[in-house]
Amino acid sequence: MSNPLSIHNPSDSGGDSKGNTPSAEQQKQMEAAYSQMKRRMAMEKLSSSIKHKIMVMSGKGGVGKSTVSTGLALALAKQGNKVGIMDIDITGPNVPKMLGLENHRLHVDEGRIHPAKGPSDVKVISMAFLLEAEDTPVVWRGPIKLGAIQQFIGDVEWGSLDYLIIDFPPGTSDEPLTVAQSLQNIDGIVIVTTPQEIALLDSRKSINFAKSLKMNVLGIVENMSGYSINGTASDTEGNLLSNTVVKVNGPGGKVHEVITDDQGKWGVSLDIFKTGGGEKASQDYSVPFLGRIPFDPGIVRSGDDGVHRIIAEPEGISAVAFTEVVKNLNEILNSNNDDSELEII
Ligand SMILES: Nc1ncnc2c1ncn2[C@@H]1O[C@H](COP(=O)(O)OP(=O)(O)OP(=O)(O)O)[C@@H](O)[C@H]1O
Ligand SMILES: [Mg+2]
Repeated sequence: MSNPLSIHNPSDSGGDSKGNTPSAEQQKQMEAAYSQMKRRMAMEKLSSSIKHKIMVMSGKGGVGKSTVSTGLALALAKQGNKVGIMDIDITGPNVPKMLGLENHRLHVDEGRIHPAKGPSDVKVISMAFLLEAEDTPVVWRGPIKLGAIQQFIGDVEWGSLDYLIIDFPPGTSDEPLTVAQSLQNIDGIVIVTTPQEIALLDSRKSINFAKSLKMNVLGIVENMSGYSINGTASDTEGNLLSNTVVKVNGPGGKVHEVITDDQGKWGVSLDIFKTGGGEKASQDYSVPFLGRIPFDPGIVRSGDDGVHRIIAEPEGISAVAFTEVVKNLNEILNSNNDDSELEII
């Protein structure tokens, strides 16, 4: 489509007969205004073409936001939903790596950016797609960064989606604010914490951020909660033992009994770290608790080899945990009433 604001210059001399021809500078400004307007219209359209928009945040870095964002996206997609994930971590984008898309390069068609397709057809957009090499540091000043975020929102051809999960860098700075101001009808934020009590403090910052923008807190996910171990039971001849009780010695001498499945597989979550920080935070601040994701060494491995734990082991303990979080999240989304006002703490 041609730019309707671009003005045909009737003479090569740079001016029309009345001397009203815009200068090159004016022309540039008008074109910028036109792109901005187009982008704003596209952003407005997203409010109806994307059913649920969910921001994933945490006060502290490294607690598992990207792991939870990708896990939620895949768990929702596996249930038949159309899902997109937007990796807003401009300086350290790692969602593509977790979804095996690290060599993807963006496809741009008539000024529209087409997202990559990950497992279960999850649509993915990330700054990583624009980087020459994955270890290239992105050092951007505020306004450029914010412009890029708006472009991510307005210029991407998401199509219609049931869920858009937005993964942020840690903290409550410019990025979430820009998204909150650019995208309409955001359902709310999901806060990721680790189980330690320090989680209380970190969660509080994210809760206050949401409240200051009059956004809903959809709930808290406690990540790295308990230690997940899995195994396969067999007898001395190597025959798999299905539907058999396996005893696992946990910390403090506690014995856990689990029953193997049809293939002799078993999994158990052991409380080797302190747990309950996320749940306590949700009680203290009267926000929903969405559930726990165990500490699962397989998550680290799958982050490295690009096959998400949910895909690698669809019946595994982490996949089950994500399914539970998604179930709770959907209950909140369905019953969401905006008048649950919280005090700013
Ligand atoms: N439940 C888990 N069990 C085991 N390892 C995990 C779990 N969740 C996350 N990790 C690992 O912890 C590291 C940090 O996770 P992730 O990148 O998801 O955190 P983040 O909060 O997005 O980090 P950042 O603040 O840098 O964006 C990764 O190596 C990831 O594989
Ligand atoms: Mg991250």
